[in-house]
Amino acid sequence: MSTAAVIALAIGVVVVLGAISFATLARKSDVRGAGALSSEAVKRDKAGRSAADVEAEAAASTRTGADAEAEGVQARSKELVQVGAEDSTLIPWTPPDPEAIGVSRRQFFNRATVTLMSAGIASFAAASFVAFLWPSGTGGFGGSVAVGKLDAIKAGIKQGGGFFYVPEAKSWITAYPVEALPAARTIYTDNILVGMEAGIVVLSQKCPHLGCRVPECKTSQWFECQCHGSQYNRVGEKKGGPAPRGMDRFPAVISPTGDVSIDTGTNVTGPAIGVNTTGQEAEGPHCTGGDEH
Ligand code: FES
Repeated sequence: MSTAAVIALAIGVVVVLGAISFATLARKSDVRGAGALSSEAVKRDKAGRSAADVEAEAAASTRTGADAEAEGVQARSKELVQVGAEDSTLIPWTPPDPEAIGVSRRQFFNRATVTLMSAGIASFAAASFVAFLWPSGTGGFGGSVAVGKLDAIKAGIKQGGGFFYVPEAKSWITAYPVEALPAARTIYTDNILVGMEAGIVVLSQKCPHLGCRVPECKTSQWFECQCHGSQYNRVGEKKGGPAPRGMDRFPAVISPTGDVSIDTGTNVTGPAIGVNTTGQEAEGPHCTGGDEH
């Protein structure tokens, strides 16, 4: 078969298929197809109806879908206008009651966190307040501070060149000469004499002048305050400077077994200016520029 014949045959097939499609579409749009009334039926129907009915039907047959949609929109607009006119008052918004709608999970965790933190801070503050007010009986400054055996303390004084420092008690311990006891008994109170009778004296490190820590002076064998030059002999009796008295002291408590503790809760005011029970003079160069009085 030649090419021209094939083309002609294809054109013929296309034309036939197009004719069949056209015929099918024309049949679907034919109002006289299935469901359409025959001319006799139409005549009988018209004879049984009034002229008004026929006229209304004719008008309805000319009404398009757009007309029907426009009529519907118009009717709905009228309804909305009527509703708005009836209820034009604005109702104020009222927030919903949280208790009524319940507590969300986030609210629950937020409230729990705040509550626990508040409880923790309150507990800490209460504990600190009680601890601050509670008297500390032992173990720190303000209470009884255990130092050790009396013999060990005396050995410590010698080892320290005449001075033994107890930081927990903020105190110095020095030796008290037995030959000075008669004079001491006329000056010092019984609770201080307990230590002196045992050969020691416990002195507060706090300068009676303005409160500086008073260091020892190994060369003079005195205490000499670096702040304003107050000087005290080895048992804390004032020798010079602006201090108003000798060094304050704490009672030493000595058990029958020789254990010594310092009662730092009892501050005994130092002796008056001029008290010099030991008669000790400076044993070497001073550590401060203060004059000896
Ligand atoms: S504080 Fe010690 S002399 Fe002033």
